[in-house]
Amino acid sequence: MYTRQNQKNLTTSQKKRFVAAVLELKRTGEYDEFVRVHQRWFRPDDEDGLRVGHMSPSFFPWHRRYLLEFERALRQIDPAVSVPYWDWTSENTPAASLWAEDFLGGSGRDSDHKVMTGPFAEGSGNWPVTVGVTEARYLSRNLGRPHNPISLPTRAELQWAINDPVYDASPWDSRASKGGFRNKLEGWAAPRSERWRNHNKVHQWVGGHMTGGTAPNDPVFWLHHSFVDLLWDRWQQAHPDSGYLPRRRLGRADLQYGRVLSLDEPMPPWDVTPAELLSHEGVYRYEA
Ligand code: CU
Ligand code: CU
Repeated sequence: MYTRQNQKNLTTSQKKRFVAAVLELKRTGEYDEFVRVHQRWFRPDDEDGLRVGHMSPSFFPWHRRYLLEFERALRQIDPAVSVPYWDWTSENTPAASLWAEDFLGGSGRDSDHKVMTGPFAEGSGNWPVTVGVTEARYLSRNLGRPHNPISLPTRAELQWAINDPVYDASPWDSRASKGGFRNKLEGWAAPRSERWRNHNKVHQWVGGHMTGGTAPNDPVFWLHHSFVDLLWDRWQQAHPDSGYLPRRRLGRADLQYGRVLSLDEPMPPWDVTPAELLSHEGVYRYEA
């Protein structure tokens, strides 16, 4: 059992070791394989086929398993490393230590959003972006979108999602009308005046690569999803009598038949069900 720490509490040496392990995965090509997996399963609900990772109930368990795979690869390089989490309700400006030179580096420059500082800048020579044809070959960010400002989610906005006692609701997609914890936290369900909330808004706030299917090209992806994973715990603790929905396989007559996964159906690309990922007890724990 290991611990996932709040990134703001990491020591200089812990940051260094996390970055070193990530760079080593990049060097071997394994990192880009992870980016490819995310891209392959990034399927919006206006397309046909199974939605396993996004715009669907298995958003939480799919990303939990995805992070576990990534973390396992990191820990093979350095067993002292785990994926820290970024609480974006409190470390909520580009001045936060997360974006410092000694950790993830800062925003992109104004002209083309190219990240110029830190270990993942193109100039470091260690971070060529190879997956994602429509995006730049260098890591790009546009923190806070200065020309069209957007804020990170507030505590109240997060609480609004956690307070919903229902895990998810038919039609189990991105439609805003129905609510449900998953849709409110993934961030499609939003008041009319807002396009994004919570998880989605964070991707938009970071900008650049984080806005698309190849979002894991930006290492902040892992810290963001580590916090999203922690929030699933928080929702479970708030609603011990609620659980993953849909519980049973959808019937053939359902328009979402074959498009979303119920509790006991295996999630590709792994042969693991949401039910098997409801808890991470005995594997890792979150430090407050
Ligand atoms: Cu994702
Ligand atoms: Cu995401």
